[in-house]
Amino acid sequence: MPSHDVTLEWINGPTRTVAVDADETVLQATERAGGTLPYGCRTGACGTCVGRLLEVDGVTKADDRTGDGRAVDVDDAFTYRRAPRALKPRHQDDGYVLLCIASPRADCRVAVGSQVQSELVDNPWK
Ligand code: FES
Repeated sequence: MPSHDVTLEWINGPTRTVAVDADETVLQATERAGGTLPYGCRTGACGTCVGRLLEVDGVTKADDRTGDGRAVDVDDAFTYRRAPRALKPRHQDDGYVLLCIASPRADCRVAVGSQVQSELVDNPWK
């Protein structure tokens, strides 16, 4: 069964690399490996599990030569089991990915944690 290494990077925190099989999601593989990621619905509807793609097969956004911000494209890195309803098209263009329904197609690095989630969702409590 082919798998891809997904490196999860908590901002100002730890890093963890998980081997994710083709038939499982990043969230499932992380839990199988004894780790935790935040989640709510596990169906792509709430956005709790969001991460931000940093690198695909060694290519980062800083490697973008065209300036259109598409050097790391979520479509190159992941396939979704169902539509990522919690993400607007501009979020997907910015590299946000729902880890509860995403299976990797390449080795990649993803920023995770509360800071990434607060980039996506306005916090009414602040
Ligand atoms: S847990 Fe709700 S979108 Fe992933």
